[in-house]
Amino acid sequence: MATPFFHDFTEAAALDEFNLVELARRMSAFEPGPEELRLSYPTAPTALGRPRTSALDRLAAKRSSQREFGVRPIPGGRFSALLGAARAWDGPGHRTHPAAGGRYAVELFAVCWAVEGWSGRILYYDPVDHGVVALPDPAPTWADTYPQLGLTVDGTPGCLLVAVVFPERVTAKYGELGGRFVLLEAGAVMQSLSLAAAAQGLRGVVAGGLQERSWLRTLGLDQTSARLAFGYLAGT
Ligand SMILES: Cc1cc2nc3c(=O)[nH]c(=O)nc-3n(C[C@H](O)[C@H](O)[C@H](O)COP(=O)(O)O)c2cc1C
Repeated sequence: MATPFFHDFTEAAALDEFNLVELARRMSAFEPGPEELRLSYPTAPTALGRPRTSALDRLAAKRSSQREFGVRPIPGGRFSALLGAARAWDGPGHRTHPAAGGRYAVELFAVCWAVEGWSGRILYYDPVDHGVVALPDPAPTWADTYPQLGLTVDGTPGCLLVAVVFPERVTAKYGELGGRFVLLEAGAVMQSLSLAAAAQGLRGVVAGGLQERSWLRTLGLDQTSARLAFGYLAGT
């Protein structure tokens, strides 16, 4: 194996039905200390001038994690724009997010419950053609999926976007350092999706507690080198 340390790390960090209980116990036992989540120096920060408000500022102010979903399906145009946050603009390169060596290790799938034209389907998002391929098996129902997500939401989201990574696209070039790069890229995609959801007036929240093996099976990727990165619930 070319990158044994990254392999061991991803194995140790994968969530499954066995380590889930221990994680839940740990999370509920966690008590935040008094520390502020910023660095502190003897001198107070010097105030910066008021910046001119940019389109990015307006989006950033709009973005927040939303866990209540309405009954309206995600309209097709907004769904297209949401996935389009990860699209390639000129051939396979030039995407919203940077990727180490232009090796683009992140792939997106959409498990659809209420999406105009696609409800009940699992879709692979092709970022180069900005199109979707429907997988042969139907999407698992929301009722079956919800208890396994490890988060609380109200209502039914329109879809769960599942981001997976193919680490060897990057580790083949960068070795163990590439493992770090792959996760950084996934984080950049997460942010693009979050901002695109805000721009489209969609609600959304990252679902960090997906069980890896089970989702890779659902996506037909269990016999590949794919690893789960994150889920993103989106809806109206
Ligand atoms: C990697 C990651 C995993 C997350 N997983 C969850 C999750 O499983 N459940 C949840 O309700 N929120 C999850 N969140 C959302 C955070 O709780 C949220 O971003 C944080 O509380 C800050 O709030 P804001 O997004 O509204 O600014 C996750 C966020 C990140 C970045």
